[in-house]
Amino acid sequence: MLAASAEGPPASASALLQARAERVIAGAGGRSQLHFYRFLAAYPWWAESAEGATLTDVDGRSFIDLMGSYGPNLLGHRHPLVEQAAAQQRSRGDSMGAQTEVAVELAELLCARFDPIDWVFLGKNGSDATSYALRVARVATGRSHVLIAEASYHTAHDWGTIFEAGVPEQHRGLTGRFTYNDADSLRAAVDAADEDVAAIMITPFHQGYFQNPVLPSEAFLEEIRRQARRCGAVVVLDDVRGGMRMHPSGGSSAAIGLEPDLVCFGKAVANGRAVSVCGGSGALREAADGVGYLGTFFASAVAQAACLATFRAFDSEGAFARMMAIGSRLAVGLVEAAATAGLTVEVTGFPTMALLSIDGDDGGGYLSHVWAAAMVRRGVLVHPAQPWYLCAALTDGQVDAVLERAVEAFAEVDAAMATSSRFGR
Ligand SMILES: Cc1ncc(COP(=O)(O)O)c(C=O)c1O
Repeated sequence: MLAASAEGPPASASALLQARAERVIAGAGGRSQLHFYRFLAAYPWWAESAEGATLTDVDGRSFIDLMGSYGPNLLGHRHPLVEQAAAQQRSRGDSMGAQTEVAVELAELLCARFDPIDWVFLGKNGSDATSYALRVARVATGRSHVLIAEASYHTAHDWGTIFEAGVPEQHRGLTGRFTYNDADSLRAAVDAADEDVAAIMITPFHQGYFQNPVLPSEAFLEEIRRQARRCGAVVVLDDVRGGMRMHPSGGSSAAIGLEPDLVCFGKAVANGRAVSVCGGSGALREAADGVGYLGTFFASAVAQAACLATFRAFDSEGAFARMMAIGSRLAVGLVEAAATAGLTVEVTGFPTMALLSIDGDDGGGYLSHVWAAAMVRRGVLVHPAQPWYLCAALTDGQVDAVLERAVEAFAEVDAAMATSSRFGR
């Protein structure tokens, strides 16, 4: 047990909460599964509050939040217009066991805004939306297998989770895999399923652990279209992560030039509240009507009101352009900051969701871990292996501070390279 002792410094509030959590929360909330493992203690895990692009932990340490809660923080934590819409709806009721007009307004907005969305399903998590999409695809095609990319994350559910413990092999058996951006491998996966393919699901932005993020190549997208035609599979764009961060409309299909049959959104669409969406073309409407997929909280009106307000503020505040500008500035500035410490780094992905990698790093991303932990100790929240998720609330002053602190963090990396035999200096 962690506690203040006569010999050592008093335990931090975070350490005390962690010790309590380890007694009563399985896996103590999952921090170790987020791959912080090398410098776990550096990262804030017990949050006190958040505002705009600043997160404060229970020890009063404040962080410039470049991780955006892994996606949801789009406009800034506790964005006034979103909070106001949520509060207004809360004064009328939230989970009432019946739908509200807010759901219809939201569905109308989504149908008007996105191609090919003619109808929507509203859920809570990205996993709801992607799992629902596969049901629709299976009803529509009468087929069983679904194909997804290796190292892609689409769901916490058995059909596609990246964690194996407790998942029977049979539950994975209907999920085939291909290599992202590899047309031959996609073709081989369709062959392996004997063309019994209900759906091909891809993300518009792919990133496996300790791999640089990539966007889909035109040749790969063309192969998806060809294979979908060949076996009649439904094309699902999982926009749970890329949504709101790859195109001014919020939908990534317009950014990558894919015309999916179904699109899934989650994470950012309600600026931190739990709303997810699967939307589809009119051709799939009958199949969708035939799918029973219910959740106690799927009709929560407060979250839906927040979602509506998020779309409105996203447009009225030019959030996409702002995030793009910040991301571009960070990418250039971090390369320059690294150069001052004599390091070469690469920033890959999309400006709003990019990952920094360090030249000469080992396969486990040791130097990325050193750098991320050094940034976190200086009050900038980044992840060693996940791209940043920028929010539009980041101020110019915060971006300046990130770049200043990065110079010192890169100097720590340089020192780690000098002292560790694995980097052969
Ligand atoms: C691309 C993608 N799809 C689906 C999901 C699942 O979303 P959720 O964690 O909200 O269930 C995630 C979560 O990280 C994701 O990144």
